[in-house]
Amino acid sequence: MAGRLDGKVAIVTGAGRGIGREIALTFAREGAAVVVADIDEENGSRVAEEIRGDGGKAIFIKTDVTSYDNVKAMVEKTVSEFGRIDILVNNAAVWNIKLFKDTEPSDWMREISINVVGVLNCIHCVLPYMMEAKGGRIVNIASDAGRIGEPWLATYSGTKGYVISLTKALAKELGRYNITVNCVSPGVTKTPGAMKFIESVGEEKLVKAYPLRRLAEPRDIANAVLFFVLDESNYVTGQVLSVSGGYVVG
Ligand SMILES: NC(=O)c1ccc[n+]([C@@H]2O[C@H](COP(=O)([O-])OP(=O)(O)OC[C@H]3O[C@@H](n4cnc5c(N)ncnc54)[C@H](O)[C@@H]3O)[C@@H](O)[C@H]2O)c1
Repeated sequence: MAGRLDGKVAIVTGAGRGIGREIALTFAREGAAVVVADIDEENGSRVAEEIRGDGGKAIFIKTDVTSYDNVKAMVEKTVSEFGRIDILVNNAAVWNIKLFKDTEPSDWMREISINVVGVLNCIHCVLPYMMEAKGGRIVNIASDAGRIGEPWLATYSGTKGYVISLTKALAKELGRYNITVNCVSPGVTKTPGAMKFIESVGEEKLVKAYPLRRLAEPRDIANAVLFFVLDESNYVTGQVLSVSGGYVVG
């Protein structure tokens, strides 16, 4: 059966584990060639091998999204390996769970450089290729913390609010090049990065805030990302889709 992303080339940042890994696997199952771009060599190589083992196309490129030069080299390698870039998913991010009064400049600098500067670096480096091809799909992974603001996650909420506004502004700037820019906004999702938090609060207690009474699995988020890169969504841009079981509505 033909995949819905046959012939497409996708870059997924932070694809070594968690939500990014699931997005990479989903795209590969749909026929895309996937670049697993992660700072973590061990996990990133494993995901690319897993995809190839299942008969898909993938390479791992070690990338620190905070470095413009690193990102530029990753994008150039993508084009030299696969010839084009159709899809960019900005997924890599970090968070500190602390009251703002207890954070230090090094905490917020790290969050801002990965969650904000990393996204700017990746979009800026893929744009020339997408503009020349007169088409592209950019999906930014935000967070419901960026929509409503969460205590203990003030800097993180701010970085994700930035990503949401950036998405809307770039959708307006890039529409004329047939490039769409959208956001998927997860609630608490069961990933390696979130498990410590989930265990410390207790899953039974957390789910009470979610009308659908469960936490997200990475596949819930990957399915929403897939929607934004399929042909069926080619008239949808500048949107923020919460995938959080009704935690944030509207
Ligand atoms: N898990 C949740 O509860 C949750 C909730 C809302 C939003 N999100 C968002 O979903 C996305 C994925 O989250 P996750 O839970 O899968 O995270 P995770 O911590 O499990 O995985 C993040 C990945 O990003 C990589 N990464 C970190 N710094 C990097 C850098 N400088 N360059 C390249 N890669 C880097 C890590 O190596 C890791 O593989 C993030 O944008 C996060 O903000 C997650």
